[in-house]
Amino acid sequence: MEILEINNVSYVYSKGTPFEHLALDNINLKIKQGETLAIIGHTGSGKSTLIQHLNGLFKAQSGTVVFQGKDIWADKKNIKNIRFKIGLCFQYPEYQLFEESVYKDIAFGPKNMGLEEDEIRQRVQRAMQYMELPERYIDRSPFDLSGGQKRKVALAGILAMEPDILVLDEPTAGLDPAAKNHLFDLIQKYKEQSGTTVVFVSHSMEDVAKLAERIVVMNDSKVVMEGKPAEVFEHAETLLKMGLSVPEITKVFMKLKKKGYSLPSVYTVEDALQSLQPLIGGMCHDS
Ligand SMILES: Nc1ncnc2c1ncn2[C@@H]1O[C@H](COP(=O)(O)OP(=O)(O)O)[C@@H](O)[C@H]1O
Ligand SMILES: [Mg+2]
Repeated sequence: MEILEINNVSYVYSKGTPFEHLALDNINLKIKQGETLAIIGHTGSGKSTLIQHLNGLFKAQSGTVVFQGKDIWADKKNIKNIRFKIGLCFQYPEYQLFEESVYKDIAFGPKNMGLEEDEIRQRVQRAMQYMELPERYIDRSPFDLSGGQKRKVALAGILAMEPDILVLDEPTAGLDPAAKNHLFDLIQKYKEQSGTTVVFVSHSMEDVAKLAERIVVMNDSKVVMEGKPAEVFEHAETLLKMGLSVPEITKVFMKLKKKGYSLPSVYTVEDALQSLQPLIGGMCHDS
């Protein structure tokens, strides 16, 4: 079942000026209830512009965004509610922290929703647990925390709204590999426990292979490909032409296949090992 549908959405920046730029060119996209969807594309392909349409931060200049069967703009007064239900976390969200304590920052969304203080406190605590933020941080200033911890506080602020869809713009941008893996693990765990639909933007196939159940590829303001990771990575050559990398292990296997080895297409190291097992086993047997 679809939770969100983007129908024929187009968007032009600086319309009617010499700087006019078509950032979204007739986008069609269906997001399924409970799925983890990755939107991938090179810098400038329109990803951030697209996801700001999902919760009504941007209004499509043509086309519609339909949430749970209803056009999000059908009732303009309701758009605030849509923003609570479709929680959008910007790229580098830690730059938007501003409150004097971690508690206040995470409570900001739930407060705006008009929830009772008790409910707000519970949500803040739950969100901190999801992000594995130590309880003792609650009264600290977010500015005293490390970059990685600040990012987790910012994310917790979105989780505390308990959105139906969590939308993340490049959630691990700028993090070192260990912090990146940790954050992806937390997002995965949150997803499994809450059942929330997750949409995340990335330009790294390596990252996408870790988390996504389905991938949408954007290129030059258009959706050009979509499918399960295995289906999308089948088109490695096309992806490379669009300036997108494929996972390193996929590249290695592509090279081996070009050399005449009969191998499947793989996109994770685990799959690669599995597909090599019979060959390695055979070699051992022969010797
Ligand atoms: N505020 C803006 N005004 C004019 N052009 C913009 C603005 N924001 C983005 N763009 C342009 O729109 C295109 C898509 O941008 P964006 O959605 O940010 O892409 P992505 O997130 O994939 O990097 C880019 O060419 C970018 O330069
Ligand atoms: Mg972007």
